[in-house]
Amino acid sequence: MRVIHTMAELRSALGGAGRAAFVPTMGNLHDGHLALVAQARALAPDAPVVVSCFVNRLQFLPHEDFDQYPRTLEADSAQLAAQGACDIVFAPSERELYPEPQGFKVHPPAELADILEGHFRPGFFTGVSTVVTKLFNVVQPRLAVFGKKDYQQLMVIRRLVAQMALPIEIVGVDTARSATGLALSSRNGYLSDAEKAQALQLSSALRQLIGAWQGGQRDLPELEAQAHAALDAQGWKTDYLTLRCQHDLSPAREGEALVALGAARLGKTRLIDNVEA
Ligand code: PAJ
Repeated sequence: MRVIHTMAELRSALGGAGRAAFVPTMGNLHDGHLALVAQARALAPDAPVVVSCFVNRLQFLPHEDFDQYPRTLEADSAQLAAQGACDIVFAPSERELYPEPQGFKVHPPAELADILEGHFRPGFFTGVSTVVTKLFNVVQPRLAVFGKKDYQQLMVIRRLVAQMALPIEIVGVDTARSATGLALSSRNGYLSDAEKAQALQLSSALRQLIGAWQGGQRDLPELEAQAHAALDAQGWKTDYLTLRCQHDLSPAREGEALVALGAARLGKTRLIDNVEA
């Protein structure tokens, strides 16, 4: 396994477009990330597997945790080497990937990118779409693997690739959870032990929302308001708890495959999760 820091070296190591299986990350890897890498390896046994580790300033708002975000390249490389599924870790500096301010950006459509996460983190999906497009241009993978943990992000990337006719297969992987059921996340490192235990309340709230719908309750605004109030009463500051159609994230409708999505702050840490019905 090689760790590469420049685009030029990466391109020459890959020796041509359309070969690699690619897993973009912001580093600080956990078993959820490693599951994506294993999936990339399994789907492309003969391809070079590339994992990028890059904390992308463009997708953080000024008050968010860009500076604090854990940068742990040595530990990440050691984990990837031990797993044995990754061939190349691509870890560019900010100056390498953004040698000048990134004036050209990829703006996803509002109906997908200004709702839910995009509503509470304006510009987030522009930042994600821009860096992912740029990384796709550098790696030129034939497939790329993303987690369903970031459900809306996966949908944005699928639409980006389809609308821009990029010859890249996008693969979604189920959310990896701890033994207790907590969705693995780099941001869990910000939680105290007590908060880690309490953090399970978010996925419980999502499952309750699904349960209420499946139990026949159909007043969606009322259901969502109740879920929001119940989580806040447990000490959270909820951004949203909502039941949506899986295919386009529009409000839940009878006969559609549904997903419950939520984002809420516990202390200083903002967590997101989702559960498919
Ligand atoms: P990051 O949060 O590091 O996540 C990298 C990938 O790992 C994403 O596809 C994410 O959905 C997936 N992932 C995170 N936690 C997971 C879990 N518990 N189970 C399964 N997959 C999980 O998402 C980003 O970075 C960035 O936005 C990025 C796409 C790299 C662009 O900067």
